[in-house]
Formats: sequence, C-alpha cells, structure tokens
Amino acid sequence: MKVTYLGHSSLFVETSGARLLFDPFISGNPLASAIDVEAIQTDYVLLSHGHADHVADAEAILRRTGAKLVSNFEVVTWFGHKGISNATAMNHGGSAEFPFGRVQYVNAVHSSSMPDGSYGGNPGGFVVTTPEGSFYFSGDTALTRDMELIGEEYKLSWAALCLGDTFTMGAKDAARAARWVGAPEVIGLHFDTFPPICIDHAAALGHFEQAGVKLHLLKPGQHLAIG
Ligand code: NI
Ligand code: MN
Repeated sequence: MKVTYLGHSSLFVETSGARLLFDPFISGNPLASAIDVEAIQTDYVLLSHGHADHVADAEAILRRTGAKLVSNFEVVTWFGHKGISNATAMNHGGSAEFPFGRVQYVNAVHSSSMPDGSYGGNPGGFVVTTPEGSFYFSGDTALTRDMELIGEEYKLSWAALCLGDTFTMGAKDAARAARWVGAPEVIGLHFDTFPPICIDHAAALGHFEQAGVKLHLLKPGQHLAIG
C-alpha cells in the first residue's frame, strides 16, 4: 500500500483495489498549503467524525470526484441533505463489504458535531481489510481498552493513530494503543497543526521505540510504502 500524509489527520491510501481518502482537512491547514486539493482523485472518502478539522474539504471532493462517502449514519445523513447520496452509512461494531475489501467502524472516545453544529452521531475509527493487509485509522480518540478487541480480531500491518494530545491521546498513550491493536508500524496523526497539539518529536519517537513500534511522523505531502 502507498500512503500519503496530507496533513493533520488526512491520509490518502492507495490499495490495489481502490484509492481511499480519510478525514480531508487540507485547504484550511497552512502546513498543507503545498497540496492541491483540486488535484486529488479518490474512489472513497472515509470520515471518522463530524468535526471541521476532519471534514472541511469532504463536500467539495465528493462533488468533484463522485467518490463514495463512508461514515456513520448521522454524518452520511448530513451530507445527504446536501445532495450527496453516493454513500455507505455505518455504525459502531458494524462492517461493510466493498469491492476493495472490508471496513469495520470501531469505537472512539471523543465527541462529534457537524461544522454547522448539528448532531454528528458518535465518533469512530476504521479497520480496513484488503488483500494486501489490514490497517486501523483511529480518528480522534482517547486510549481505550476497546482497542484490545482490534488486536484480538485482526493482524494489522500498520495503524494511523492520533497522538497530538490535548484533544486526543498523546504519544505515550498512542504507543500503548499501537501495542494493544498489534500494529508494528504507525503513522502519526493530529499533531503540529495548531499550538495546543504541537508535539516533541523526539519524545514521541522515544515512547514508540520503548513499545517496539516504528513511528513515522510525516510532513504533509510525504508518502511511504507500508504494509
Ligand atoms: Ni475531533
Ligand atoms: Mn480533530
């Protein structure tokens, strides 16, 4: 799989079967100013929850590309009222089959509302299983024992975990999460975008090294082959 970090929690994953875009927040992120949102081509847009720093560019990308939206029922309904109907609605614990593989919507401990203040349901994360392996995208979450269920059920190739602290788990907890979900490699999310989530990179790398997990702290636009 080729994974490109688009800044904040935005991740673009290219599998053999499809292109998957997670939590697009690009045009409003000064750190991602080099990324041309208009040039993004994707088959799916997966949204972990309704907060603006995860959905800000979703509407424009969905309209332009015709990609399928995958999120919880309330987020999908909100976009449906805007006329975006190519979507799969899910809820916690449920899985859905797609031509590229299987997606499970898993628990996150956080909050969720849409950018206009309307109800966004409960926030989640995704476990994606493809012929090339499985990975976990955490969305925004605290460390939670529920992550152990992911480790019991799946053999993950990698995970993308929030670790910026203040609004989500910090790096120390994220390193523990990596062990619980059983991910040998982790791409960091939700860090350095705003002052409250600016992190000490050396300290974060140290926490993961202690956990025996390889941590990638990418710059927006950087990509790597993983899994
Ligand atoms: Ni959030
Ligand atoms: Mn967030």
